[in-house]
Amino acid sequence: MATKLIIDTDPGIDDAMAIFYAIANPEIDILGLTTVFGNVTTPQATRNALFLLEVANANVPVSSGLHQPRSLPSFPPSSNVHGDEGFGPLQLIEPKGEPITENAPEFLVRTAKEHSGEIILCAIGPLTNVAAAIDIDPDFCQNLKGIVVMGGSLAVGGNITAAAEANIYHDPHAAEHVFKYGCNITLVGLDVTDQVICPRQYFKELAVESPHIGGILNEMTDFYINFYESIGKINGCSLHDPSALVACVNREFFKSTPHKLRVVLSGDRIGETISDKNCARANVDVCIDVNVSGVKDNFFSNVAKLN
Ligand code: RIB
Ligand code: CA
Repeated sequence: MATKLIIDTDPGIDDAMAIFYAIANPEIDILGLTTVFGNVTTPQATRNALFLLEVANANVPVSSGLHQPRSLPSFPPSSNVHGDEGFGPLQLIEPKGEPITENAPEFLVRTAKEHSGEIILCAIGPLTNVAAAIDIDPDFCQNLKGIVVMGGSLAVGGNITAAAEANIYHDPHAAEHVFKYGCNITLVGLDVTDQVICPRQYFKELAVESPHIGGILNEMTDFYINFYESIGKINGCSLHDPSALVACVNREFFKSTPHKLRVVLSGDRIGETISDKNCARANVDVCIDVNVSGVKDNFFSNVAKLN
């Protein structure tokens, strides 16, 4: 039976890859997309999520999330990485669909209750909506099968600052709230996602197999890889968010170790994720190694099926 997923997302180029992968993979049943700021604003994220579903002919509810971090002021979107609208140079066609009326934290709480113990929440943006869902329902985490978070790093430093990974940095207080709360969390952070690097040729080949959806990804990733090159990474782009989606259904590609994780909440290292055995909280399973070709082949073979 397919794994039931909700994806909390800030689309975003690698979010687009991840969502197309989830649509394509028959082992995944997407119950909803919830949106959050990060790569773009929340209204842009909601529009982009609807756009991705429409171009891939997928019928999935979209619920719009919170607009700003839990404690910090809002950040400008990461337009240098993802473009002004989130998808690099891609011409966005205004989607016909609308988000549902229920907001993201309410949708998360209700859906987790209705499918108690069955859903994996794959969070590939800041954890703002997830923290708010815990505020609404203290049993929220218990109602989930688990949470797979794309975020943080243990041993390789950050990508938005020297210390912090972007999703955690954009709402460190939300991340700390979620880690402290005692959810069943698997962290797919930069320790593994920065190993899963794909060159332009990978996306060109994907566009040959899947001219429409692969073609869209090829166009977007050209822009994304230009950004990587501008910061001296010349081998291609990382599959951050797709790696988290792959981990939801093919956990065997990842090796993890348990850590009590806390988030730095102030100072130069704000947003850093630290393993601290003195923290009174449940362990997070932190992925520390990955079967790179397993993830890349799995992503490619699934997305290649989309027309
Ligand atoms: O650090 C990578 C993460 O930040 C990804 O989720 C990417 O989409 C951005 O949000
Ligand atoms: Ca993302």
